[in-house]
Amino acid sequence: MSSPAGGPVFADRVLNDWLSSVGLGIEYSRAEANTLYYVDEDGQEVPVLDHVCGFGSLIFGHNNPDIVAHAKTVLDRQVPVYVQLSHQSHANDIAAVLHAILRREIPGGDGDYAAIFANSGAEAVEICVKHAELERRARIAKLTEEIARNAEEARGAVGAGRATVAENPYVQFDRASGESDKLEQLLAEAGRRNAELTARGPVHLALENAFHGKLVASVQLTQNPHWRLPFTSLASSTRFLRANRPDEMKAAVEELRTSLLDALVDDGVVTVVERDFPLVGAFFVEPVQGANGMRPLTEAAAREIRAVCDAVGCPLIVDEIHSGMGRTGAFLASSHMGLRGDYYTLAKSIGGGIAKNAVALFHRDRFRPEFEVMHSSTFAKDGFSASIALKVLEMLEADDGRAYRIAAERGDRLKGALTAVAADFPDVVDAVHGIGLMLAVEFKDQTRASSEPLREKAASGMLGYFIAGLILREHHIRVLPVGPAGNSVRFEPSIYLTDADIARTENALRDVCTILRDQEGDRLTP
Ligand code: F0G
Repeated sequence: MSSPAGGPVFADRVLNDWLSSVGLGIEYSRAEANTLYYVDEDGQEVPVLDHVCGFGSLIFGHNNPDIVAHAKTVLDRQVPVYVQLSHQSHANDIAAVLHAILRREIPGGDGDYAAIFANSGAEAVEICVKHAELERRARIAKLTEEIARNAEEARGAVGAGRATVAENPYVQFDRASGESDKLEQLLAEAGRRNAELTARGPVHLALENAFHGKLVASVQLTQNPHWRLPFTSLASSTRFLRANRPDEMKAAVEELRTSLLDALVDDGVVTVVERDFPLVGAFFVEPVQGANGMRPLTEAAAREIRAVCDAVGCPLIVDEIHSGMGRTGAFLASSHMGLRGDYYTLAKSIGGGIAKNAVALFHRDRFRPEFEVMHSSTFAKDGFSASIALKVLEMLEADDGRAYRIAAERGDRLKGALTAVAADFPDVVDAVHGIGLMLAVEFKDQTRASSEPLREKAASGMLGYFIAGLILREHHIRVLPVGPAGNSVRFEPSIYLTDADIARTENALRDVCTILRDQEGDRLTP
């Protein structure tokens, strides 16, 4: 079950050693639907049921024959793949389909959605970060212009003797100062404070245990401290909020409230008025928090988040990279909880399992058209991945959304099996989370286990990987851990999951639970 030996290792040296140490060091040679294959020491091809399915990027399975056949015809037709800065109507074709779906699924869905294409999920998130900053800068510019205009008006009024300058908490005037002198002192102090504030970068809001990618800006929206903290100096900071604590959310927003100073003439007196400053850039939300152990938002939390964004005036960015493209039984997972976003991100399954593609969608009311040339990439919007995306969308929407119904039905069936195991092992399993084909089983903490190997593995945060290694070794099923403590195991197969696959999965989980219950920690060691 090890990878082919021989030769110096230049890539993944540490990673591969570590994978082998937890029992996941396998090289797969072939894949179809929900099955991966590796060749064992006897040269036999061994099938493995894949519950990871490309981190949820394979709603139609590995090497889906319809998608592969389509890809072949695209290549045979010599479709232009890279023709940057030409009319590329395929981009609009995808955007038009997405627009129609969004209008159908978004509660109160109205208006148009403008699309900007990317190569990866994280890039789509970064596109949103950039666009939100563009929006914020425009708001700041408008405010600053108003404040400058008001300052000139005040100068005119004071200069003409029509206004005096009121005492204020910002500047202590010299008694001897004349009114014009006072005004200049006041405007200088206000200008200094305002310049300091307007130079500040945004603060983003995200949910506790969020995962939004690992690029420079997106990793700051990903709470995991190991991935985020070394890079905090490179990008704007994020305030992480608990989804189910509206009071905390309100308090955080109140704490982030800050204002610009504006000198206004009112009834012959220049007074200082505080104008709300848009410090918050955007609120990023996963409708089902994958890295948090596949936890869906509640409808109440969704309402609260929308209210926060409306109050602050920042865009609500719904990250559907993981949960979108039908995985939860609807195109958008956010439609289950009635969450209406201003921007949306999609990736993973839009590549059909054979291409890399991602897209950020912006409600037209907020979209800044100049952004179309402010973000681009050599590889984004290419003809090949675009034609695959169109095929995937056609397959999802076919037969009045049959694929969504299958995802929901298969998901319910799988969840039923996982829940049955949880019910029989309440001492070992904490809960089953998720919706549709985006599920996780959360195991109870084993850091106080009586078995020493179990305790050690749990303390290192690696227990989930050893569980995955055992399930692979003994049951030929591929799962991976997820969740902040790595205590959960993720299930996100394609819609082609069979009843037999579900039965095998249940059996494997019962085996793991029995090992944990009996504290047979040694069995987890490869
Ligand atoms: N946003 C969400 C919600 C994701 O789940 C991911 C990736 C990303 C953004 C970043 O996308 O990997 O294409 O750059 N999630 C993977 C996972 C890593 O484990 O499910 P990417």
